[in-house]
Amino acid sequence: MRHYLKFSDFTLEEYQYLFERAAKLKARLRSGQLYQPLPGKVLGMIFEKSSTRTRVSFEAGMFQLGGHAMFLQSKDTQLGRGEPIEDVAKVISRMVDIVMVRTYEQSIIERFAENSLVPVINGLTNEYHPCQIMADIFTYVERFGSIEGKTVAWIGDSNNVSRTWLQAAKTFNFKLNLACPPGYEMTVLDGETYSSDNFETFRDIYTAARDADIVTTDVSTSMGYERETLQRKKDFLNYKVSEKVMLQAKAEAVFMHCLPAHRGEEVDPEVIDGPQSVVWEEAENRMHVQKAVIEFLLLGRIDD
Ligand code: CP
Ligand code: NVA
Repeated sequence: MRHYLKFSDFTLEEYQYLFERAAKLKARLRSGQLYQPLPGKVLGMIFEKSSTRTRVSFEAGMFQLGGHAMFLQSKDTQLGRGEPIEDVAKVISRMVDIVMVRTYEQSIIERFAENSLVPVINGLTNEYHPCQIMADIFTYVERFGSIEGKTVAWIGDSNNVSRTWLQAAKTFNFKLNLACPPGYEMTVLDGETYSSDNFETFRDIYTAARDADIVTTDVSTSMGYERETLQRKKDFLNYKVSEKVMLQAKAEAVFMHCLPAHRGEEVDPEVIDGPQSVVWEEAENRMHVQKAVIEFLLLGRIDD
């Protein structure tokens, strides 16, 4: 049994397989063809934080695969009243076939997985958001063929999304230029090591974006950090993706954002709603890649 708790849980070769599957599942859906290999299977979705895309993409995707998805908000379950995560994992995994968890510390999902009888997928933790970056790279690969050797410029917080970009840079062999405000620099977790081919830090956002193939950012205050919102708004004032930043990147560069976005804060409307933005494809591709992950974790490799 496998889990998908962080980006490095799959190898490059597995991602290549999953991207082929995601492309196939996407084409099938678009042509109106039914493909339901998971009748009678249930996906449990535990949400300790809010969501639009993650909930809808997992729920719609599981339904399309012939299964059922169950939305479990922690505040409406005993988890919200202090039931230990280990007990929740032992109970839920006796009744469902696969579980997605969105929670706070990565250690919570790891404890869940250790006690689960079924595969567990990370739907966002404070530290990582692997499904998001898988969808982002799929979006790039779909358009341009390969991300190897490319440069991704990240302007903003060192959070779950940027930390996952860093893991992905190692797996896919591209370079991540990180421009984070003072006091919000990237901390590398899990004893991982990164070479300078994969990772460079900048103070100046324009230098970070120079010749980039992808420019990306995220909200300055992630879920769980709301008490820091006012301070963060001040600290992130000069860390915004504007048209001037995009002009530093390659002419064919794309703009990405995991969403939800805050126009005028981390990105200007001219950029996110402009011709270089691929944010809507990114959002849709969450569903296609996650269907490939669910199929892979439950059925292994499929050749049809
Ligand atoms: N990008 C993303 O995970 O969005 P939601 O918070 O809406 O699920
Ligand atoms: N970094 C953001 C991502 C939301 C999808 C957060 O954790 O709130």
